Amino acid sequence: MGRVDGSGVRAPVFSWKRFSKKQLKVLTWWTDCSPVKGMDGIICDGAVRSGKTVCMALSFVLWAMQDFANCNFAIAGKTVSSVRRNVVADLSLMLRGRGYKVAEQVSKNQLTVTKGAVANVFYLFGGKDESSASLIQGVTLAGVLLDEAALMPQSFVDQAAARCSISGAKLWFNCNPEGPAHWFKREWIDKREEKRMLYLSFSMDDNLSLDERTKERYRTMFSGVFYERFILGKWSAADGIIYDMFDEKRHVLHVLPELDERAPKYVSCDYGTTNPCCFLLWVKAKTGEWIAAKEYYWNSRERGRQKTDEEYVNDMEEFIGAEKVRYIIIDPSAASFIAALKRRGFGNILAADNAVVPGIRLVSGMLGGYKLLCMDTCKNLIRERGSYAWDKAAALRGDDKPIKQFDHAMDAERYFVSTILTPARKVGTSDLRVRIGI
Ligand SMILES: Nc1ncnc2c1ncn2[C@@H]1O[C@H](COP(=O)(O)OP(=O)(O)O)[C@@H](O)[C@H]1O
Ligand SMILES: [Mg+2]
Repeated sequence: MGRVDGSGVRAPVFSWKRFSKKQLKVLTWWTDCSPVKGMDGIICDGAVRSGKTVCMALSFVLWAMQDFANCNFAIAGKTVSSVRRNVVADLSLMLRGRGYKVAEQVSKNQLTVTKGAVANVFYLFGGKDESSASLIQGVTLAGVLLDEAALMPQSFVDQAAARCSISGAKLWFNCNPEGPAHWFKREWIDKREEKRMLYLSFSMDDNLSLDERTKERYRTMFSGVFYERFILGKWSAADGIIYDMFDEKRHVLHVLPELDERAPKYVSCDYGTTNPCCFLLWVKAKTGEWIAAKEYYWNSRERGRQKTDEEYVNDMEEFIGAEKVRYIIIDPSAASFIAALKRRGFGNILAADNAVVPGIRLVSGMLGGYKLLCMDTCKNLIRERGSYAWDKAAALRGDDKPIKQFDHAMDAERYFVSTILTPARKVGTSDLRVRIGI
């Protein structure tokens, strides 16, 4: 579908499906006939892909253009490029489809939206790091839209809210849930009445553009606490055993199944000298599952002796044997071991993606869908799966992290999944090769 412009070229348009009741509420809460138009802002939380961002972004600009002229607004996401990708791209199409002019001044990270005599400027911000709070500090705003607000530092959100000093200014926040002690839950959702914020919680059923198969696909991507948060939309705590979906009967194999001969094999490694050092060999079954086929685990404390990097390289050579391994994936902090491997001619080393919680989320999703299996010889992997737990004290502070003990096979497994199996990454391209400079 496309709109024909003056040159006869079809411009892309946003093709809307029917709005859900909740989306309609987001689109109209500020209008004259709304009983809640006097509120100071809106918070939408809930499931992923539930239609929060798309309707909030459109409503934000329609509101801004109706109530203000020649004013400044802010649209923020985790980074400026994520705002462009997740918010501005569709928003521009939607606005143009409604007769608005949208001019993006890319170098200034700003959009000017015009209709008739009314023009307003929308500054784009990335709220990810603490330094962004100082960027937004100097501006006076009539409104802010924070996409994925719970992923931003509290200082940025506070600063953005404080900049909204023009009479009639409103705050527009959306996010997916985190833990119950997260600052956004405590400071904004729990205090929504005091802060005069309208609050709406979304589920995937509030997005009528998703068919049942798509919703089912999303459901199978998450497991454990991430299912509760990203599918059920609850602010659930990350406590207890992390991989509580692990079931020895279904995840542990006694006989290696037929392999997908075309799929590369990988080794992932969590390096340690005083701590244990773990290597895992990954192979793909013909039926699509990834299998940890064997493990190497050297616990220097238990064995009473630390190994040198050269000895670990010997062990790696022996571990790989005659297997053809596409990449060895190693935590980039293991610089001395990587250098030793390179000296011995290993050219196929990849720096592991070490973002812990997103990695755990991917592993949980794969375990939940029985896409990640292991052989019964991977004793430490199996043992650690049973004990790997969330740090309760950190959860009470609103921070998700695992307890750092008996986590070496867990780290090696996570490195493999995050680095190789993330759909966004195209492994094999040179940008992924390690450039540690040694
Ligand atoms: N009413 C609608 N018509 C067409 N597409 C929609 C509609 N509502 C949501 N979508 C689409 O559904 C997807 C998820 O919506 P999004 O707003 O990004 O969800 P969320 O922010 O909750 O993750 C997007 O591709 C969006 O364009
Ligand atoms: Mg969104």
